[in-house]
Amino acid sequence: MANSLLTGKKGIIFGALDEKSIAWKTALKCYEEGAQIVLTNAPVALRMGEINKLSALCGNAPVIGADVTNMEDLKSLFEKSMEHFGGKIDFVLHSIGMSLNVRKGKHYTEINYEWNQKSLDISAMSLHKVLRTAWDMNAISDWGSVVALTYIAAQRVFPDYNEMADAKSLLESITRSFGYHYGVRNKVRVNTISQSPTRTTAGSGVKGFDGFINYAEAMSPLGNASAEDCASYVTLMFSDLTRMVTMQNLFHDGGFSFTGVTQAVIERMEK
Ligand SMILES: NC(=O)c1ccc[n+]([C@@H]2O[C@H](COP(=O)([O-])OP(=O)(O)OC[C@H]3O[C@@H](n4cnc5c(N)ncnc54)[C@H](O)[C@@H]3O)[C@@H](O)[C@H]2O)c1
Repeated sequence: MANSLLTGKKGIIFGALDEKSIAWKTALKCYEEGAQIVLTNAPVALRMGEINKLSALCGNAPVIGADVTNMEDLKSLFEKSMEHFGGKIDFVLHSIGMSLNVRKGKHYTEINYEWNQKSLDISAMSLHKVLRTAWDMNAISDWGSVVALTYIAAQRVFPDYNEMADAKSLLESITRSFGYHYGVRNKVRVNTISQSPTRTTAGSGVKGFDGFINYAEAMSPLGNASAEDCASYVTLMFSDLTRMVTMQNLFHDGGFSFTGVTQAVIERMEK
């Protein structure tokens, strides 16, 4: 049921690869709540063509290619988006993650540093680049909202999350640091949402994902949060109902982050 939470708002959604993507569900939710959106992804991801289906479901939202590590691409994306909207942008979703070392099966203790630079650039510094581009162009409206997606491996050790744990720590730090400056200058809010393990292309790339997701389910009083639930939370963060929330890492994980142990896990250990 829609509540018109985003009526009149305009936003850019990064990272919808296919219908499992958290960004895909968020685009649908934002559109349902009355927003106008622009969809963007890396040119190589656009070649899959899936995103055109999403565009059709979101009122023929423009699809604009941009490698999030490339400042020229980002500038062109913001220029074209503002031209399309006829004004500034109210919200941005950064839903991007990629680890070369995970993809190539390198253990954390043996990472290749060139790949690591690339992983950090795509998964974390890219948020700085997006914010910097918007900042330089004064592209985000006052009281606008930027959300990036993260994972609790930024705070606690999950060994197979590998270098992505470091990337997420950096992402959360950039959220606070840039969030401060953008708050002071334009009242723009910047937050991360720390989501439960979710079956998507990026999520399933983590080694031992089945064990990982089942453990989180057993350790969360509400169970794991779905991609649809995450989309709802992101949408709320883009709305005016959360105007005073900024520089936060917001757990969206069914209670996992504050649970020491559950009865379900104790019973399994007693077997
Ligand atoms: N799936 C999970 O378990 C989980 C849990 C917590 C947080 N997250 C985070 O959610 C976000 C979205 O991931 P997802 O699970 O929906 O998976 P996904 O694979 O659907 O999305 C990842 C996206 O990143 C994009 N991307 C990669 N390199 C890029 C580049 N150079 N330029 C532009 N885009 C690029 C991909 O094309 C893809 O659309 C990521 O930040 C991920 O770390 C996922």
